[in-house]
Amino acid sequence: SGAIKLAVIPGDGIGQEVTTEALKVLEVASPAGVKFEQTRYDLGAERYLATGEVLPDSVLGEIREHDAILLGAVGGKPNDPNLPPGILERGLLLRLRFELDHYVNLRPSRIFPGVPGPLADPGEVDFVVVREGTEGPYTGNGGALRVGTPHEVATEVSVNTAFGVERVVRDAFARAQRRPRKKLTLVHKTNVLVNAGSVWWRIFQAVAAEYPEVTTDYMHIDAAMIFMTTDPARFDVIVTDNLFGDIITDLAAAITGGIGLAASGNVNPDRTTPSMFEPVHGSAPDIAGQQKADPTAAVLSASLLLDHLGHADAAAAIETAVVEDLAARTPGAARRTSEIGDAIAARVAG
Ligand code: NAD
Ligand code: IPM
Ligand code: MN
Repeated sequence: SGAIKLAVIPGDGIGQEVTTEALKVLEVASPAGVKFEQTRYDLGAERYLATGEVLPDSVLGEIREHDAILLGAVGGKPNDPNLPPGILERGLLLRLRFELDHYVNLRPSRIFPGVPGPLADPGEVDFVVVREGTEGPYTGNGGALRVGTPHEVATEVSVNTAFGVERVVRDAFARAQRRPRKKLTLVHKTNVLVNAGSVWWRIFQAVAAEYPEVTTDYMHIDAAMIFMTTDPARFDVIVTDNLFGDIITDLAAAITGGIGLAASGNVNPDRTTPSMFEPVHGSAPDIAGQQKADPTAAVLSASLLLDHLGHADAAAAIETAVVEDLAARTPGAARRTSEIGDAIAARVAG
């Protein structure tokens, strides 16, 4: 009981639409005696274009004082001449993940009953990707020389520290240990990325020795994409670096019913900072403002948020409502974003 201080960053495009629905569902799901104290932050393309601000330090400082963050999506219209590529993605989203030490980017994938997908016979698909969230090629360690000349050289150096790899690998083993199948697959490209691959492989092997009950497996990223398409049921927990994890989880979404269903948590397992929950998808400029987005991914992200804060029952109630809503969908009958949110909220309310 008590109050949960929630920082809400709806962001851009459909981020705003799906966040409205996630909050609607959170409100009805909130456990008895628990109140959400929301602070809304109007960060994103609009604010940047109006003021030049992406994430002022003072705002970051305020966000830190919350229990959790709910984020919609960031990213403006593509090729807007006033919006340099990456300015919001790096300056807002990645900065939050880095500054708040969200080293576990948790992305569960399940094929829920009755949900149509592209695979004819996928079997029982229920896996979770533990994507490293603070390192890899995302750190901004690189540069460009002789830009615009035929001799241009551009680099994005992948950073992999023993500290950063070990903490995420440990989290993945602990998660695998808690799941019925107790299986962990490391996905990397150790045959080519030999330096990064070596540190991942050695740490994976060393931590495995502490988890004798966890079955381990290794796959190169390219082969992993074959198996994710031909036999996704084989996966339980996958641990991988930041960029591989980004790509894998869009494929994972595609095979499990679409990007509109894929939820995520940017988690700091040490709980020294607020963790941040957001759909895997982006701001979808192609459908923004039309009430065409599926808010389910945002709603399920709110469920992950409640679970993280220790409200497992409320989290499960949202998940059950989503599962029921998905099973009751009529193929081909499109509903508006708000209709889906209303339907899920009504099921949570019982
Ligand atoms: P996107 O995920 O926004 O869209 C990809 C496709 O999926 C589009 O056709 C879109 O209409 C569809 N889609 C996405 N979410 C949907 C939903 N909930 N319901 C139905 N359809 C949905 O990816 P993109 O087009 O590559 O990126 C658009 C912008 O979003 C870019 O600026 C990108 O940098 C940003 N982005 C932000 C995040 C984030 O905030 N976490 C994630 C990915 C992309
Ligand atoms: C995601 C997005 C982000 C990422 C971008 C927008 C920085 O694609 O959350 O999957 O690459 O992590
Ligand atoms: Mn992505």
